[in-house]
Amino acid sequence: MNIILNKPDLQKKDDFHHFLYMAQVVEARDPYTAGHLWRVAQFSKALGKKIGLEGKVLFDLTLGAYLHDFGKIVIPDHILNKADALNDNEKQIMNSHAEAGHKMLSKHELTEKIAYFSRYHHESWNGKGYPSSLVKGDIPRGARLVCITDSFDAMTSNRPYRESMSFDNAMEILKSERAIQYDPELVDEFLKLDEHTLQHIIGHSDQNKKLLTCKQCGPVIEKPDEDVSSAYCRVCTGKFDVHHSTDGTAEVEFNGDHGDATELLSEPDMRHVESTFSEFEI
Ligand SMILES: [Fe+2]
Repeated sequence: MNIILNKPDLQKKDDFHHFLYMAQVVEARDPYTAGHLWRVAQFSKALGKKIGLEGKVLFDLTLGAYLHDFGKIVIPDHILNKADALNDNEKQIMNSHAEAGHKMLSKHELTEKIAYFSRYHHESWNGKGYPSSLVKGDIPRGARLVCITDSFDAMTSNRPYRESMSFDNAMEILKSERAIQYDPELVDEFLKLDEHTLQHIIGHSDQNKKLLTCKQCGPVIEKPDEDVSSAYCRVCTGKFDVHHSTDGTAEVEFNGDHGDATELLSEPDMRHVESTFSEFEI
């Protein structure tokens, strides 16, 4: 990674890495969302480029997208991982992640300018979003963009209570919510993105790493490196034999066992951060 900050300052570079580490810690609490941060950052960067953003602005968008759900760290596990519908009180607690993330990110000089992505990514074009019920252009543009990419990833990912939607269905829903939930101009640009580019992000947790499927829990297993022959489902702890193919794909087979504490010990993998931020020199 080659992040050159305004004043070359090692401490700042370390801080930047810490935020990205912490974002992965937040994601690790909800194994169903494996790779969500990476995908939303990639979709957002692709859409940002499509509308002509570059340099620092594109970097801020990508970082804002990566950290948009940072506030989920304050949400109790039984609400964060609840498979059934949330009741009104639980919904309010869940929704508070937007403001919680904003509060934390706005306290650091590296993230204060992108804290608004967290606060406003659930606002809706028609004013029916949260937390501030902002309308149309009053919602910061970056947050309107991440609202689209976040929804697209949610639709094309499995959830405990439903299977993922097909690519075409997800695109149709974006179109039908044009000027209702989403900024119409940004949706139009998203719909014009190259399908090939999007398909290389959907269902992946990194460049060329398509999530592998646990029969019980769905596509939630992160593909290991080619020299690694075991993988674990972090939802059910199942252990899988991995069969790598020469074309870079892999298949998994449940081997009847479960990972022990050492095997399931995961540490944040910063390589996918490379594939998200390496192109930026700020
Ligand atoms: Fe969110």
